[in-house]
Amino acid sequence: MMKKVVIITGASRGFGELIAKKFHKENFQVIATMRNIDSSPSLKKLNNVDIKRLDVTLKSDIKNVIDFTVQKYGRIDILINNAGYGAFGFLEEASEKEIRNQFDVNFFGLIDCIRAVLPQMRKQRDGVIINISSIAGRFGLPFTSLYNSSKFAVEGLTECLHYELSLFGIDIKTVAPGSFRTGFHDSINYTESEKKDDLGDIREKLKIALEEGIKNEPPFPFGFGNNDDVANFVFKQSIKKSKVSNFIGTDTKIINFFIKIFGRELLFKIIKKLWFSRILSKKKL
Ligand SMILES: NC(=O)c1ccc[n+]([C@@H]2O[C@H](COP(=O)([O-])OP(=O)(O)OC[C@H]3O[C@@H](n4cnc5c(N)ncnc54)[C@H](OP(=O)(O)O)[C@@H]3O)[C@@H](O)[C@H]2O)c1
Repeated sequence: MMKKVVIITGASRGFGELIAKKFHKENFQVIATMRNIDSSPSLKKLNNVDIKRLDVTLKSDIKNVIDFTVQKYGRIDILINNAGYGAFGFLEEASEKEIRNQFDVNFFGLIDCIRAVLPQMRKQRDGVIINISSIAGRFGLPFTSLYNSSKFAVEGLTECLHYELSLFGIDIKTVAPGSFRTGFHDSINYTESEKKDDLGDIREKLKIALEEGIKNEPPFPFGFGNNDDVANFVFKQSIKKSKVSNFIGTDTKIINFFIKIFGRELLFKIIKKLWFSRILSKKKL
């Protein structure tokens, strides 16, 4: 029997690489795409895994991967939009390039990949698209306005698209992880190309707090999740009918429960208190 075909973006490392390995284990034909095709020696060794170059900001790369897949396998069953990174810092200090790049990768790249697979999926009247969002796409955090809003956009896009794509038998959903220790934290882009002198003091304290907050294990009962759980969860969501938004990680469960019971405004107050007591001592912004 013909294997089902899955395309994964950002498969060089982190969740993307683990997701590619999970689909391979489950006997799929895997198109593992990445910016640098030599990034994952372990994926390169596997049968039934095609490694293809794809920077999600380059439409020509996207077209090449889709053309290759359709010509070679005649179908695209699943697209996993996983590629992404975090741009953190004061919005005011970000350059236009930094702002646009965050959305070019996390949002417009994802849109371009979706638009590229749709003609084939509509022809099949079948297909699944999973957008890797984040719990950060559901509530705001301080100093991560670009990253969070790019993930809010992914959540919004998915929620809207699920109506129109259901007309063609195509299922689209998000998987929103909480905190996991991948390469994500080492790839953070601190957006400070347009430094403002009067923000210098706060910026430096903020960076220390962000580094501490990001690198250290979040306090009990939050903690980091197990990365393999994300790959297994993504696989599971791709083969069954599930909700439009799907959360993975203990922290996502706690936060969603908190919001349901106490509302978002109380969450904002707590976050402000926790962050600003660490960054600002008694000084006000
Ligand atoms: N880790 C977490 O706690 C967490 C939580 C919620 C959501 N997420 C989301 O999960 C997804 C995967 O992140 P991760 O945690 O696995 O982080 P990661 O280890 O840093 O992996 C990020 C992946 O995205 C790729 N990428 C970045 N820019 C790209 C571009 N322009 N074109 C193609 N690929 C690109 C990277 O490729 P290179 O190797 O070429 O840089 C890498 O493969 C992201 O969308 C992230 O926002 C992560």
